[in-house]
Amino acid sequence: MSTNGTALLDVREISKYFGSVIALKDVSMTCEAGQVTCLLGDNGAGKSTLIKTLSGVYRPDEGEYLFDGRPREFASPRDALELGIATVYQDLAMIPLLSIWRNFFLGSEPTKGWGPFRRYDVRFAKDTTRQELAKMGIDIRDPEQPVGTLSGGERQSVAIARAVYFGAKVLILDEPTAALGVKQAGVVLRYIVQARQRGVGVIFITHNPHHAYPVGDHHVILRRGRVYGDYSKEELGLDRLVQMMAGGEELENLAHELERAAGKASGEAGDDLARAAEALEREAKDPGA
Ligand SMILES: Nc1ncnc2c1ncn2[C@@H]1O[C@H](COP(=O)(O)OP(=O)(O)O)[C@@H](O)[C@H]1O
Ligand SMILES: [Mg+2]
Repeated sequence: MSTNGTALLDVREISKYFGSVIALKDVSMTCEAGQVTCLLGDNGAGKSTLIKTLSGVYRPDEGEYLFDGRPREFASPRDALELGIATVYQDLAMIPLLSIWRNFFLGSEPTKGWGPFRRYDVRFAKDTTRQELAKMGIDIRDPEQPVGTLSGGERQSVAIARAVYFGAKVLILDEPTAALGVKQAGVVLRYIVQARQRGVGVIFITHNPHHAYPVGDHHVILRRGRVYGDYSKEELGLDRLVQMMAGGEELENLAHELERAAGKASGEAGDDLARAAEALEREAKDPGA
């Protein structure tokens, strides 16, 4: 379970339905300042729905959302952002042809002067971008460089630095390492650790246990819209996490098939299949137990 102390972000038993689809059911999780909460799960587990709920895109149908210890309701992502809940989506919302510094201040351009003399404070934007990237330990040769010429890992890193600069208290990263090779993923993981060291609470979504384990303080595993487990790094161990993600998926698929078969079969045969499916699910959840 997560550590003690008041969590910055704390959701309790939230559920989200899309018509008859149960995307999230009774999901509880926390994120604390200066900690990394990893959110793991296979495709369709509900990861995206959960982060969209956390970032104010969706409203939960049930459950409580607390931030800084107070119940919150968001009408839009802007409300969440104002509190310091920033989300970096995979597509990043950057313009490849624009320079790094222009992208850094995209949508929040600093100005100087008044009335008709008001203009973009280019000097400030360039200097700040350079300083902020340096603070995160990001070594960019030239802030004039178009973002499109950066590697995927560097681009993610710039997005992280930008969110931290604009006051993120909770930084939600949606599969930032998914499309990256080992080395580039390592770059992004380093900046996740940097953000944590600066006191930001990071929610890191991934399906790769090798990316999650080294940086995660605790690991929330989602499966079919429910929390399957919430483990601290100490109680989990890399091997077990890998096993849960890999073996878990196969067993889970098998369990699904058996369930379907159980639905078609009748009487005792159906019951047997249903019991077998349940046993597999238990095995998937707690390998070797
Ligand atoms: N807008 C939507 N309308 C209907 N069903 C949805 C919608 N968004 C997600 N779902 C369903 O909710 C479940 C969880 O999806 P999602 O949160 O995208 O999972 P993940 O990000 O872990 O792959 C899936 O079964 C998906 O089909
Ligand atoms: Mg998703």
